Amino acid sequence: MRFENKVALITGAAVGIGRAAALCMAQQGASLALLDMDAAALQAVVEECRQLHVQAECWTCDISDEDRVKQVVSAAEERFGKIDILVNNAGIWRCFTSFLDTPSETWRRYFDVNVLGTANVTRAVLPGMVRRQYGRIINVASVVGVYGKTNMAQYAASKAAIINFTQSLAREVAGLGIRVNCVSPGTVSTSENPDIDFTESMEKCYMQRTGSARENADLICWLAGDESCYLSGQNILLDGCRKII
Ligand SMILES: NC(=O)c1ccc[n+]([C@@H]2O[C@H](COP(=O)([O-])OP(=O)(O)OC[C@H]3O[C@@H](n4cnc5c(N)ncnc54)[C@H](O)[C@@H]3O)[C@@H](O)[C@H]2O)c1
Repeated sequence: MRFENKVALITGAAVGIGRAAALCMAQQGASLALLDMDAAALQAVVEECRQLHVQAECWTCDISDEDRVKQVVSAAEERFGKIDILVNNAGIWRCFTSFLDTPSETWRRYFDVNVLGTANVTRAVLPGMVRRQYGRIINVASVVGVYGKTNMAQYAASKAAIINFTQSLAREVAGLGIRVNCVSPGTVSTSENPDIDFTESMEKCYMQRTGSARENADLICWLAGDESCYLSGQNILLDGCRKII
């Protein structure tokens, strides 16, 4: 199996893309350390993974809390002995207001979670990867981090930062057996988003449909596996051929 004897830590694993990535890796034999703020939903994903006959544990954690992140990562390393794969998926995005209607506190929270949170988890996990000269880091950004988006400026800017973080970190660690790549989903229609009307988003892509969490998970798994071994520092847009508008 592709991820036999591999340990993956996934943030935001309770729902959506993070949950799909956990299940996809579990199906391919990975042991899983799962993080999220939603304890109940996270526990349910752990149970689903265990039913696939892999080891899975979870920790409730707000990734913007650096001390908690350090605690949780060292607990995961103690439990599993190592972390081979890190999927920085946790993020916030459900705020649709014009720039002038978006207060600086909202900007601060988006950067605290999406940017500093990703950096916090990476800073905690990376030393072990450097010691073992092996690591696969996959960040989840967004097409809006490349194209921009009206009424989501703070989100788009935070995801642009993640894309550049990917490119920069990849260059720092390329000689250490560590690859860093980024997946930028277009619109993902998960069952967790019944509140959002995706009609406009579907019109924005030539395939005229939203992507699925599983399609994103498949790409994440490919980036974590050996088939992509010459690829690092890249941002892959999984967006059904989005129109640039
Ligand atoms: N759904 C989409 O259309 C879409 C499109 C592009 C990018 N993305 C990105 O994909 C990622 C996953 O999004 P999704 O829509 O699959 O899931 P989601 O937004 O529904 O859920 C994200 C998960 O992250 C967790 N989370 C949020 N803040 C956290 C924090 N501070 N600490 C720990 N966990 C936290 C939430 O509890 C939740 O379980 C996000 O980074 C998002 O920005 C999503």
